[in-house]
Order: sequence, then structure tokens, then C-alpha cells
Amino acid sequence: MATHVYYQGEYVYRGVIFPGYIRRNLARAFEEQFECRDDDVFIVSYPRSGTTWTTEMVSLVMNGGDTEYNMSDIQHTRVPQIEVNYKPNIMRIKDFRSFNDAFEWSKSIPSPRLMRTHLQYNLFAKEPIKRKCKFIYVARNPKDMLVSYYYFYKMCRVHGCYDGSWAAFFRKFINKQLCYGDWFDHVIGWWKYAQKNTDTVLFLKYEDIKKNPRSTIMQISKFLNKELHDRLVDEIIHHCCFHRMQNNAGVNFGRESYVMNTKRGKFIRKGIIGDWRNHFTLAQNEEFNKLYEYKMKDTGLSFQWDG
Ligand code: A3P
Repeated sequence: MATHVYYQGEYVYRGVIFPGYIRRNLARAFEEQFECRDDDVFIVSYPRSGTTWTTEMVSLVMNGGDTEYNMSDIQHTRVPQIEVNYKPNIMRIKDFRSFNDAFEWSKSIPSPRLMRTHLQYNLFAKEPIKRKCKFIYVARNPKDMLVSYYYFYKMCRVHGCYDGSWAAFFRKFINKQLCYGDWFDHVIGWWKYAQKNTDTVLFLKYEDIKKNPRSTIMQISKFLNKELHDRLVDEIIHHCCFHRMQNNAGVNFGRESYVMNTKRGKFIRKGIIGDWRNHFTLAQNEEFNKLYEYKMKDTGLSFQWDG
């Protein structure tokens, strides 16, 4: 797998580890040439926190519940992940050159644009923050995120289809060696920004979406000033339920074998709260809790650990 075009090792940018294949676009997109518009909307998250799920909901709220459109193409071709800057297309992307065109692609999307990013607050472009663009941040309890990220690393060619053990992966988290950086820096950075800017940031939690998707969709529609009929809300809930998401090739990378080795797992994998209990040893849990308590004290942010 290590020879695959998507695997280019890792790249450290301002002290944060990123997948090597985005190295060319990171600074270019965020510091030099990112042209934002006042009505841009960004989904922001640490990987494996429910980004795809939230993106599917938000895009449907924004396009009036057009599930047919959402099913017509893979999510990454509808909602660019801005720091990655590629426009993957299962039919056309054949080689690495295609990566570089997508920066232009985001410029040609009609307003209001929906984009997403996994970047930390302090690495994110300053312009959208200055211009008060809207952000929807989704966070997940970090134990479940970590388990999910482990399986993602294993199947994703960008991570060389990771072959390490769970114990080694756990250590990467503790040592801040996972791609996109330290989870605490990520979540706390955006949380602090959200606390001070409730009109422009909606802070969601995976566990709340899972418990009450209707309330989440209503929150999103209120935040984006979009009125939704009850029937439409029902349709969005139905379209975004776990079972349908898992069977929807447009969001499950089912066809995108060039990015994911789908023989090694499913991108939309298990969708539960508390899977960490099947992976963490007692010692790992203790070590994690200690770090978590130290980092999260004084933040006022808490998570649900079990479903
Ligand atoms: P698991 O690996 O625990 O199943 P991201 O999109 O940020 O990469 O997050 C992926 C995680 O969100 C995966 O977690 C995936 O299964 C979960 N997910 C996606 N759609 C979901 C849904 N409709 N309901 C519950 N979980 C969902």
C-alpha cells in the first residue's frame, strides 16, 4: 500500500502532523489565497467525529432537502474539504495531477458555499473568521473518536493502511502524533471561539445528534435561518440514519477504492456511543482519564461516554 499515490507519509506544518499528500495545498489554501465569501458555511471537526453525518444533514438543510441531488454524487464532490483541495471523481481521477485543480473548483461553487475542514482553530484561515462566516463544529467523545480513527487509519490509503496495533495507536494519541494534531488543542481551540461567538458558531456533539437527530436538524436550520417543514425534517432524518448512510455509496466511500481499501473496513463503520469499551484496557482508560481531566478542567465542556 505504501506505494499508492495517496500515501506520501506525514508532513509537519506549524508543529501539527498532516497526511503528506496535502502538503502542497495547506498553506496555499489557508494563508495565501483563500478567498472567502460572507455567506460561506464551514463544517469543522477533528477526524472521525461525525463530519460526514453532519455534512449530509447541513447540506440537506441548505438545499431544501434535495436527497436526490445528494445521492447523485459522492459527498466530497459536493462539499470540498478545503485544506485537501482535490475534487475526487471516481471516474476521472487517475493520477496525482488531478489534485491540484480543485483549489480552483471551490472558487467556482455558487453561493452559499458549504465547505469543510479538519483544521485546528489557530491554523484556519483568518479571513472567514474576520468576516464572521458561519461555522458548525462537531465534536465526539475522544475515546470513541480514537477507536474510530484507528479503524480509519487501517483502511485509508492516505495513512498507508496503517498496520500498527491498537496499543501503538493509543500511544500516538497520547504523544500528539495523530494526523490533524492533538484532539485537545483542536476541540478546546474551537470551543473557546464558539463560546464567544454563538451567533456564528454552532457547536454540536456526536452523542447529541445520535440521541436526538430532529433537535439537531432544527438547531441547524435555525442557525442557518432556513425554515423546514416537518415532512422535510422527517426526510432528512430518514436519509441520514445510520443504516442508510452505511448503504449510501455517496457517503460511505463504497466505490472509492482509490482512497480507501474497502476490504479492510467500512468508512461508516459502527455508529455507536461506547465502542471504546471494547478496545481500551483498564490501564489505557486510567491514563486517558488522567490526561482528559487535566486538559478539560476549566473548559466547561463535557461528553457522554456511553449510549
Ligand atoms: P464509527 O467508526 O465509530 O462507526 P467522520 O465522518 O468524521 O469521519 O466520522 C465517522 C464516524 O461517524 C464513524 O464512526 C461513522 O460510523 C459515524 N457515523 C456516520 N454516519 C452516522 C450516522 N448516521 N449515525 C451514527 N454514526 C454515524
